[in-house]
Amino acid sequence: MKCDVERNRAVVNPLGASAPPLSNPAARTRPGPAAEPVVALQQQLAKAVTGDRGALTALPGAPALDRRDQFLTLLAVYDLHTAPLEQVGDTARFQHHPAVAAVKSRLEVGWLDQLEAAWQGAGGLAEASTAERAVTAMRSVAARDRLPAAYKWLAKDASWPELVEFLALEGGPDGGFDDLVSACQVGLSGSAKVELAQNYWDEMGNGDPAAVHTVLHNELVAAIAMPHIPREQLPVAALERAALGGLLATNRWLQPEMLGALGLLELQAGPRCRLVLQAFNRLGAPAAAYPFYLEHAEVDPRHGKDWLEKAVGPTVAKHPGWGPRIVKGAWWRSTINLAFFQGLHRQLNAPQDQTLSAA
Ligand SMILES: [Fe+2]
Ligand SMILES: [Fe+2]
Repeated sequence: MKCDVERNRAVVNPLGASAPPLSNPAARTRPGPAAEPVVALQQQLAKAVTGDRGALTALPGAPALDRRDQFLTLLAVYDLHTAPLEQVGDTARFQHHPAVAAVKSRLEVGWLDQLEAAWQGAGGLAEASTAERAVTAMRSVAARDRLPAAYKWLAKDASWPELVEFLALEGGPDGGFDDLVSACQVGLSGSAKVELAQNYWDEMGNGDPAAVHTVLHNELVAAIAMPHIPREQLPVAALERAALGGLLATNRWLQPEMLGALGLLELQAGPRCRLVLQAFNRLGAPAAAYPFYLEHAEVDPRHGKDWLEKAVGPTVAKHPGWGPRIVKGAWWRSTINLAFFQGLHRQLNAPQDQTLSAA
């Protein structure tokens, strides 16, 4: 049994996660004759953004304890850039503080090295420097894992509590997508700009406040009493999945990768949402649970097609060098997403073997 767990962990973190997953202690000690308490980097950051001079000074050289600490820290930094002000309050003043920027850059460099190394194994997908090749490669990446086993299990076998837990962890097919689209369109022009604007307007319910996608998701949450799972309790794969949006949205030079990652999300969302709807039908979900997934099941196939034909194609025709990078961003998103769903599927099917926090 131990071997299974260890093998599964290796799949959950395929992008360089050699360190064993750890639980999330506030602080721990390292073995040795003079064991010093080791404070998690996320906690040092939390202290630094209150203006604590000692914590700010120590921050640039402080290491993350593990991958969990690395992604919790990065997510906290991304909050300073993109979270609602009422959530981050005055700490947002430290968004560009040199000490915070140093930690962000250091953690991202290590992570990007892992992502790049994984991408090197993706084969011929990198040969995408024409519009036609880039669009074909994007379709190929999307088709690779369009329907993870977790969604098939959800449609056919999951119990109601398992469905609710799955959706709580999934967070919708495109959580935070509206802000990501708005960040991605900065500096684009022509057909790509118009397509991202159209996509954003759909996210906004085409001007109907009651049809804004986040409003529909809030109604889903209320309808099925979906619990809020604190970030600290999420599996590492879920943290990495969430952090990818922050990485792409806060690094202007990664705009091509962001265009690919968001397009990939659109290409894969429709069929997955249809399987969620099958689960709703099978389990008798309340009516108010449907609109969010109905909307995405219907509109996202069009979003994916238009993203390729009106945003990716024209952009690569204009900037051929963007082609491989757009496909790379799609591959990153696909791979990180799949690792998350594989871990989630195992967790919900074999809770006695491992805990979410260990995945
Ligand atoms: Fe949406
Ligand atoms: Fe969409």
